Amino acid sequence: MSYIQLEQEGYVGILTVNRPKALNALNSEVLSELESVLDNLDTDAIRVLIITGAGDKSFVAGADIAEMSTLSKEEGEEFGRLGNRAFRKVEVLPIPVIAAVNGFALGGGNELAMSCDIRICAENAVFGQPEVGLGITPGFGGTQRLARLVSPGYAKQLVYTAKNIKAPEALRIGLVNAVYPQAELMGAAKKLAAAIADAAPIAVRASKKAINEGLEQPMDVAIETEAKAFGSCFESEDQRAGMKAFLSKEKHPPYQNR
Ligand code: CAA
Repeated sequence: MSYIQLEQEGYVGILTVNRPKALNALNSEVLSELESVLDNLDTDAIRVLIITGAGDKSFVAGADIAEMSTLSKEEGEEFGRLGNRAFRKVEVLPIPVIAAVNGFALGGGNELAMSCDIRICAENAVFGQPEVGLGITPGFGGTQRLARLVSPGYAKQLVYTAKNIKAPEALRIGLVNAVYPQAELMGAAKKLAAAIADAAPIAVRASKKAINEGLEQPMDVAIETEAKAFGSCFESEDQRAGMKAFLSKEKHPPYQNR
């Protein structure tokens, strides 16, 4: 893999989009590599994934404008499908994914961050959907996920104006959970990942699935989704050990993912 790097530290995977010459812009090759890495990720060994961009200037500066500049309608649609397929894989990955946004998260970059479960960013981060300024719509989920994450009115303003926002504004509208000095961003992401990795993996995964599926369902169906997720955790070794430790007033043992 040349454009996507994957490292593992304990239970935490760190996936880096590595195309710094183009501010980590996503061409077809980068997207295909991303899909392939996600398809082959060992989600038993890795309990939490952090996604970031190479360098200290850009998370991902969007889809590759040079590649898109000559596409036909049909090719444009296919390119959109490729990005959407890759980002949906991030979204439905069984384990939680944290976006550590270390700079520009524009167009496809913001869309990649929005496919993650949690977003934190550096003080220099810039977010936006500049597509209409280029004569296209957001194409890797931006017309869908932004309005679900922040208010529909704010999402529409960002998309229609193509204007970028900085980290404090992203924090204010709830697009990111926290802002850190650049030098502290990865440490904060790893600390957050470690806290998640310390919890019972079966329960964390079931929670992710229930939250994601439930958001798309009417409440009466959603609470049934929750009942199934809740029930699925019982009789697991980790559930027994976790509750036994609580009742014995001890810290829970390291969870075994069983
Ligand atoms: N596609 C292709 N190349 C890109 C790129 C992109 N999205 N973003 C940056 N680059 C390239 C630049 O062309 C430049 O390459 P050269 O050195 O070969 O000229 C290199 O990265 C460095 O970029 P800049 O010189 O422009 O750096 P800067 O610091 O002056 O500006 C920036 C940084 C504001 C992020 C600017 O690069 C920029 O505006 N980039 C485009 C952002 C954008 O519009 N993204 C949305 C793309 S459309 C999309 O994503 C569609 C979708 O929904 C799927």
